[in-house]
Amino acid sequence: MRLDLATWQEVDAYLKQSDHIIIPTGSTEQHGPMGLIGTDALCAEEIARQAGDVAGVYVAPVLAYTPAPFNMSFPGTVSISVSVFESLVTEIVAGLVHHGFGNIYFLNGHGANLEPLKRVATGFPEVKIRIKSWWDFDAVNVLRDENYGDWEGMHATPSEVAITQATHRTLPAGDAEQPPEKLTADYIKKHSGDRHGPPDEHRAQFPDGRVGSHSALASAGVGQEIIDAAVAALAAEFQD
Ligand code: NI
Repeated sequence: MRLDLATWQEVDAYLKQSDHIIIPTGSTEQHGPMGLIGTDALCAEEIARQAGDVAGVYVAPVLAYTPAPFNMSFPGTVSISVSVFESLVTEIVAGLVHHGFGNIYFLNGHGANLEPLKRVATGFPEVKIRIKSWWDFDAVNVLRDENYGDWEGMHATPSEVAITQATHRTLPAGDAEQPPEKLTADYIKKHSGDRHGPPDEHRAQFPDGRVGSHSALASAGVGQEIIDAAVAALAAEFQD
């Protein structure tokens, strides 16, 4: 159930029986040699839309322009500042609340969105705001572990590439057939939530854009399994 494909009368009728809405959040940034620039937005959007159809919940247009400063040395990345992102999300939430939405679910696909989204949520104590990344669902984690283990890594992950292979297109691995440099536990801890360094340094350290992720392990089949698991888990949250 897409908000952008609804009429105002349909939204009006919906609000008389539900105040739920899902907002997918992603990014516009490099995802390595096999990953699409829109990966994070495409993954969150697909899962949100399918779950919205299952659960009968409206899904707002995806937020695809978000902070990704560390990837600005890679062509195609567009990053907006954290302050602009927080202002934008604040006004979107205020607009939805104005119309009667009181239950807002951010289905996230980009680590750097999490802290800003949490800060925005604290500004709306009267609104029920949930924030979850699609990879946090238990059933999705089982699939990630089973299929990719440590090769999931941190960026251009085989699971996100697999999702876009299932929904959009598959690119040849080329040089990415070779595994990337393995990340240390210390690196993963220090850089969780996309806390990466300045863009030039980041590109020098991860020249092809993969951050410990062996994208070439991705397959459309597993991508479809991940989508199905995430959709079922997200839809189930609305049945409680
Ligand atoms: Ni991503």
